[in-house]
Amino acid sequence: MSTPSLNRRLILRGALGATASVVAGMSPALAALLSRTPGQSAGPFYPARKPLDKDNDLAQVAGRPGRAKGDLVHILGRVLDTDGRAVTGSRVEIWQANTHGRYDHPQDSRDAPLDPDFQGFGADTVAADGSYRFRTIKPAPYPASADWMRPPHVHFAVFAPGAKPFITQMYFAGDPLNARDRLLNGVGDPSARARLVVALENPPPDLEPGSRVASFDIVLGKTPPA
Ligand SMILES: [Fe+2]
Repeated sequence: MSTPSLNRRLILRGALGATASVVAGMSPALAALLSRTPGQSAGPFYPARKPLDKDNDLAQVAGRPGRAKGDLVHILGRVLDTDGRAVTGSRVEIWQANTHGRYDHPQDSRDAPLDPDFQGFGADTVAADGSYRFRTIKPAPYPASADWMRPPHVHFAVFAPGAKPFITQMYFAGDPLNARDRLLNGVGDPSARARLVVALENPPPDLEPGSRVASFDIVLGKTPPA
């Protein structure tokens, strides 16, 4: 189900205001923000079979009355190129574990429960200004191996017209597992690594009280990433 009541104008003025100033001003310091977003591996849990409901509201499954368990997070951002232009026509997909750290995927056979009210995968097509949005829940950590606990993260794939898919992951600021995560720390440059870590902020008035907002702009290179 989509969230038509959400006021896009308010969001753009608030959560995305910083990006808008970057594009308008383009001072050298701010222009550095438009370096490319680092890529990350897709991992093993890209959906083997997409859910019937694959809109941008992962917290609500079509035909079910309940909301997904967990802490509600709105992910808002734009898909831009390094000149700050919206990459129109882009489709953004996300997939993630649920609030128990479990993926709805045949290769995730761990004991953690599935949540029938959680969609697990969603997609959005960017608007004319490059903006996209998702309503989801904060995923829990999960073990990637006996000695590696992955921090909460959301997988992203961006399909820009004429380009190969761009794959990355978004992490949550302040999680102690971030410092030890092999994939996040595989991005050697600290400022590039920081681009993948977002702080959760309070929602603007048109979003659910108690929910959180993650602002995650994705900057693609002029030459499509391999
Ligand atoms: Fe993952």
